[in-house]
Amino acid sequence: MRLTVTGVVDPHVHLRGMEWSHKGTFATETGAAVAGGYWAVLDMPNTFPSTIDRPALDRKLGEFSEQAICDWGVYYGAANNENWLHYDESIYRDTCGLKIYNNETTGILLIDDQTIREQHYRHWHSPKPIAVHAEEETVLDILALVRQYRHWTHFCHVSSAREIAYLTAAKAEGLPISIGVCPHHLWLTQDDLPRLGPYGLMKPELETPADRDALWQALAAGVVDVVESDHAPHLIAEKESAKPPFGVPGLDTTLPLLFSAVHEGRLTLEQAIPLISTRPCEIFGLQVPPDTYTVIDLNADYVLERGQLHTYPAWSPFEGMRLHARVLETWIRGVQVYDGESIRVQPGFGQRLP
Ligand code: NCD
Ligand code: ZN
Repeated sequence: MRLTVTGVVDPHVHLRGMEWSHKGTFATETGAAVAGGYWAVLDMPNTFPSTIDRPALDRKLGEFSEQAICDWGVYYGAANNENWLHYDESIYRDTCGLKIYNNETTGILLIDDQTIREQHYRHWHSPKPIAVHAEEETVLDILALVRQYRHWTHFCHVSSAREIAYLTAAKAEGLPISIGVCPHHLWLTQDDLPRLGPYGLMKPELETPADRDALWQALAAGVVDVVESDHAPHLIAEKESAKPPFGVPGLDTTLPLLFSAVHEGRLTLEQAIPLISTRPCEIFGLQVPPDTYTVIDLNADYVLERGQLHTYPAWSPFEGMRLHARVLETWIRGVQVYDGESIRVQPGFGQRLP
């Protein structure tokens, strides 16, 4: 069976580029995005340089404009240097939202002081969402700010039963929040770490099977809004080093995994489709252009191998898994950008999201 999904978007990716182009460029990683079935991606600000001031934002916008294959948007990053003083209309116009890192991550954007977090909530005067990295009890610190400022907040890569419980209660309270979960937390657990070694290291870390089961229950119950890849490419040599960086690639594999779960009867199509299209579009206010869709084979049967991947570092923590869904075609604005094997447009085809 062939399925057509309109406006597939991943609101949480790290595409590198600029001074981290050795890990992947905006061209290579937006290529992985269309091969993974995506129309658009939203890029996180923990790049090098970090997207926390106008020059860094302009540099990223320039490189994306020249290189992007899919459509794209970029987040602004909350920093510890009072960059909230410079939030203005041009920054709201040029970004898709604000990201606040409240726990340890790749890059230099950690904010663990609640009074600084509050300054960012107080000064971000845009209807565009605030996306947060908040683990365990930190979720409660952020919910206190949401309760006070009522600013739409997207909780990224929610990974544990306790976080789901906090956020389910917050939704029942009527707080303006949304929840994203990642494939690695849905398909992998701590039990996979001996096998995966450094390739199983990311933030938030892999959790217990009970946590994974809580995420699946939340998906089935409709509590989860978005499945986001948290695509975070690092080179094999970096992962094999004495101090492997956190993060795993995911743009190639998220749709094949999600629709394999549909094939296996773990989710219905009606549950799966909004998670990668309509819900992220609503949350981030995205308009899907005409004739922009993805064709997926729901009766495929293959084992995921390295050679099938388009991400520049060419590895996946899901290698060796048997999958039952495959991206056949990706169309953007009436143009076939991916034909099931190759990328069919040049860098620069992708447009900035309005
Ligand atoms: C991300 C990265 O490498 O940029 N790493 C990760 O483990 N997810 C950063 C992040 O999202 O925390
Ligand atoms: Zn991330």
